[in-house]
Amino acid sequence: MGKDINLIDRPFSIGPLTVPNRLVRSATFEFAAENGRITQRHLDLWRQMAEGGCGLNITGKMAISAGAKIAPIMVECSYDGFVDDLKKASRVAKEKQSLLFVQLNHAGYKTSAQEGHDQLGVSTLEVAPDRVYHEATFAEIQKIAEDFARAAKRCQEAGIDGVQIHAAHGYLINTFLSPYYNHRTDSYGGSIKNRSRILFEVYEAVRGAVGPGYPVGLKMPMSDRVEPSITLEECVNVAQGLEKMGLDMIEISAGLTMDGGDSSFVPSAKEGSEGLFLKGASAVAKAVKIPVISVGGYRRPEFVEKALAETPVTAISICRPLIREPNLANRWKTDRSPATCLSCNKCFRSSGIITCQVDKK
Ligand SMILES: Cc1cc2nc3c(=O)[nH]c(=O)nc-3n(C[C@H](O)[C@H](O)[C@H](O)COP(=O)(O)O)c2cc1C
Repeated sequence: MGKDINLIDRPFSIGPLTVPNRLVRSATFEFAAENGRITQRHLDLWRQMAEGGCGLNITGKMAISAGAKIAPIMVECSYDGFVDDLKKASRVAKEKQSLLFVQLNHAGYKTSAQEGHDQLGVSTLEVAPDRVYHEATFAEIQKIAEDFARAAKRCQEAGIDGVQIHAAHGYLINTFLSPYYNHRTDSYGGSIKNRSRILFEVYEAVRGAVGPGYPVGLKMPMSDRVEPSITLEECVNVAQGLEKMGLDMIEISAGLTMDGGDSSFVPSAKEGSEGLFLKGASAVAKAVKIPVISVGGYRRPEFVEKALAETPVTAISICRPLIREPNLANRWKTDRSPATCLSCNKCFRSSGIITCQVDKK
């Protein structure tokens, strides 16, 4: 690869949008909501993100309904005033000529035990001692699709550039896709056609709500990193099916847990964990025409360039390095030394606002 080639700085399209470069801020939970509401801390963080130089920024996962939250520190899209609060975020992004997507989620087995939070999942499961979540009924599944649609519509009304459906990392939709969790015997279990049914229904409802032309993306797993797992072939088939229905972008991740271990979606800093899920993203990118984004362990700009040069993936997304160095994408324009992130996962211990915890006692 020639030294003067800079693939990162080439623009690409997501639906009608032009993304100015190929570094994306992958969704990063902010730890900042108060009783499910957007706070000034969110707005300050999103301003910093907008100034950081990534072509596209994706917010942390937001709950499609009050009951879908992992905790009260997670934004829920259903509160009165959400659209007005989110308008402030889209104004911040636009002021900085930056693109902002909202990630939409139902936490499934990871909802908090708090009263009023859903206690359902793909199949009946004791998620903690004496806390049994029931198999979601058809009516509940239908409501979940409607809640995704309503949440997406609210983001559109707030002037947000697009939404991303979260179907990865062990949350509700991922657990339907995964044979590890999905033990249903009805039309939502068994074959991949059945296991992905909820995702297709959610997508259809979202598209119906926002109309043709509004960017809708997806984050989905190439593997569960435990057995039995969704297969890469199944992942490719789902991607192709959703592309036919008008999906605008896919980000490929993997893993059900966040413990840094073998089934984790946050790879530890082991040698070789850069681009850990690139193989899956490449296979999907080969099979579809819409942009495919690869996430997972990217730390060196040379490696990012190499992935862009040698595989069909469209863009690379990054999370933890941007918590430590919010200005990393700008920095890489002149200083190509690696991200200083240690991939230690201590950022999960943040409180009030997501921050790197490495230098803290
Ligand atoms: C503190 C923290 C919060 C995260 N929040 C989200 C989230 O809200 N939604 C999501 O899809 N992924 C989330 N992730 C996963 C990242 O988007 C990304 O997939 C993962 O960290 C691997 O990329 P990295 O090696 O660049 O960090 C989070 C990761 C961390 C460390």
